[in-house]
Amino acid sequence: MPIKLGIPRETAKGERRVAIDAAVISRLIKLGIEIFVEQGAGKSALISDAQFEGTTMVANAKELSEQSDVIWRVQAPTADEVAMMRDGSVLIGTLMAHNNIAMLKALEDKKIASFAMELIPRISRAQSMDVLSSQAAIAGYKAAVMGADIAPRFFPMLTTAAGTIRPSKVIVIGVGVAGLQAIATAKRLGAVVEAYDVRPETAEQIESLGAKAITLSISATGEGGYARELSSEERDKQQKELAEYIATADVLITTAAIPGKPSPKIIPVETVEGMKEGAVIIDLAAEGGGNCVLTEPGKTITHGDVIIHAPLDVASQVPVHASEMYAKNLYNFMLLLIDEQGDYVPNFEDEIVIGALLTKDGEVMHEGTLELLNKTRGEK
Ligand code: NAI
Repeated sequence: MPIKLGIPRETAKGERRVAIDAAVISRLIKLGIEIFVEQGAGKSALISDAQFEGTTMVANAKELSEQSDVIWRVQAPTADEVAMMRDGSVLIGTLMAHNNIAMLKALEDKKIASFAMELIPRISRAQSMDVLSSQAAIAGYKAAVMGADIAPRFFPMLTTAAGTIRPSKVIVIGVGVAGLQAIATAKRLGAVVEAYDVRPETAEQIESLGAKAITLSISATGEGGYARELSSEERDKQQKELAEYIATADVLITTAAIPGKPSPKIIPVETVEGMKEGAVIIDLAAEGGGNCVLTEPGKTITHGDVIIHAPLDVASQVPVHASEMYAKNLYNFMLLLIDEQGDYVPNFEDEIVIGALLTKDGEVMHEGTLELLNKTRGEK
């Protein structure tokens, strides 16, 4: 029997995305999948109920959960929302279980098979399912736009009858997916862009976008193409060498992250105090605590004449395209869980499927999450 798929209205505070769009709906319908959508699910992504053509609208989350074999979400459900789901049904979303222990326990209790999109291994075959990349690219774009909006100066050079305006300098720290998109966007807006990452291989990528790579005396490539944590000696050196560059920036965009760790603190108070009057820091690493020691996640503060803007859930601020890309990622992942008739037949031999598997048959399957859960149980 083809599965019945449910799309609830997202309930996390400020979340504007929805886990499906019209293009993915028509592909799923071709596979024979029946789709239920909670009324108003697409409203903040500007998709009206009428645009969910070919689906069945349901009045509320409870009714949706009763109908659905599989539920797609953007953000994690609450424990109460999991409790509404059918025993043994399937949940797919960005579940961030380490922040959601109550949800995790509810998934165990209800014997839900849950797949966390953020756990999908970052191998070539999984690129089309990589929500971390699709949403980080959006955040990087938006960070550059936010910087241009908040800054008291133009980004581009302007030659006018009222004189020539010099372009702004934007420095990007952390050149992963978000950093690369921030560089490209700041360049398109006409700024002079410089960028830095602890992984030396990023220099070529920075230069291919027409920006200048900042090279320091430390390098820290870790496992799987990610950065490793710096020693405190390396950190001091990095901060000192970077401060000289940062003093010349009109806008500083920071995106540095280490998987599973709080954001590295790269910008100390002295560096902020050495910045230009009216300089702006966009701290995209706010989700993990921020790259600047003064950052207050979710807030905009000023320190002297420097503005530090630390937005959370940035992809949600571009809800139309963020939803479109997220839905496409989920669809591509879903193809690994179903056959041509739309029946649920997950291949647990597949490293992508097993990598994303969080809970199944009442057990936590993901090793790191299980360790964390056992710790919280032991502490009780
Ligand atoms: P991320 O969000 O984990 O980190 C952002 C950037 O911060 C990284 O480039 C990292 O090197 C840098 N960073 C960490 N500590 C730093 C420090 N102290 N100072 C300066 N920079 C620092 O990274 P993201 O965007 O998730 O991707 C990182 C890498 O993951 C990619 O370059 C690539 O190797 C790999 N990747 C692979 C994909 C695939 O094949 N499917 C897709 C996306 C990423």
